[in-house]
Amino acid sequence: MSDEFLPFSRPLISQAAIDDVVACLKSGWITTGPRVAQFTEALKEYFNAPHALPLMSATTGLHLALLAMNLEPGDEVITTPLTFAATLNTIVLAGGKPVLVDIDPKTLNMDINQLESAITEHTRIILPVHFAGLPLDLDLLYAIAEKHGLRVLEDAAHAIGTKYKDKRIGSFGDTQVFSFHPNKNMTTGEGGCVVTRDVELADQIARLRFHGVDRQAWNRYGKSGNQDYEIVLPGYKSNMMDIQAAIGIHQLKELPDFIARRNELAKRYQEALSDWPQWTIPQLPAYDHLHSWHIYTPLINEDAAQMNRNEFMQAMKERNIGTGLHYRAVHLYPYYRQVFGFKPGDYPYAEDVCERIVSLPLFPSMTDAEHDRVLDTMYTIFNQ
Ligand SMILES: Cc1ncc(COP(=O)(O)O)c(C=O)c1O
Repeated sequence: MSDEFLPFSRPLISQAAIDDVVACLKSGWITTGPRVAQFTEALKEYFNAPHALPLMSATTGLHLALLAMNLEPGDEVITTPLTFAATLNTIVLAGGKPVLVDIDPKTLNMDINQLESAITEHTRIILPVHFAGLPLDLDLLYAIAEKHGLRVLEDAAHAIGTKYKDKRIGSFGDTQVFSFHPNKNMTTGEGGCVVTRDVELADQIARLRFHGVDRQAWNRYGKSGNQDYEIVLPGYKSNMMDIQAAIGIHQLKELPDFIARRNELAKRYQEALSDWPQWTIPQLPAYDHLHSWHIYTPLINEDAAQMNRNEFMQAMKERNIGTGLHYRAVHLYPYYRQVFGFKPGDYPYAEDVCERIVSLPLFPSMTDAEHDRVLDTMYTIFNQ
């Protein structure tokens, strides 16, 4: 057994990014400034989108985008129970009511076939999650949204680099939110961004992210800057710093290589595990897509494995290998049970998956030898 702990995820920060962070620190301007402006332009170009807004996190992105969509009390937002709590939390924080649609047990994404039956006269927004970086069938989803006059806010926290058919997530549709948390496909430390084709939404998010100031005021202390500004609403403090953007500018350039390596490693798992009775491996939809493999999440088959998911995770940890749990079913957390009355049995597919899912190590700098170590260790655990 190796003495070295293998984490389930590890960011890959290039020397160029490190040098740029140092240059930023020495430049005298470390908060929102020229590097955030440069990162913003790079994101717009990457997504071929008119508006991209770097922020402190994807959580903030969801929150501000939902606020900017002006939910009224009682308005419903439809999402999935298989997601990080931030997806539901921000719906509540923005004044909405989360309404859930169970997952498709094959793709682990919201089951689009069940979507229409969840739409009521109070529904305003559909908030799907591209789970693990696998795109939903967006042609179908947007057709339903259009038919019912609903907005779509895609939680694309897992999905920078993902393509649906031949189009990048973020390059079409209504509005998307991406995460740059260290576990994600690219990172800025903490960070995220909103991408939209709606100029009014973009302007409102820009105001909300910086105190409600009516214009980009980052350079007001510079020689050409103007000290004066107006507050047009009570905003938040959610702007990204230049220190973060210094990392992001380089990560965005390196992203295609990261996604390519993620795909190699995922393919390696798929091939190696396809005939292991202990696992149900991820299944892929028939439509053309590029998966970004933010996480690799097979489901444990308890009978064949003779252990449950938590026992498996513990056995891996004892052998110095980290795994992840994405996610527990959000509707079964105490707050959601107490306030919205969710209960076990409401979303059976999600609940089954949440008991069996595990994220195996996968990150761009993972070597083939480290990958083999994961496979060998799992073999030992199941066959001892
Ligand atoms: C589906 C989903 N949405 C939102 C978030 C929030 O992202 P952030 O950590 O950047 O706020 C995450 C983070 O894990 C996530 O997985």
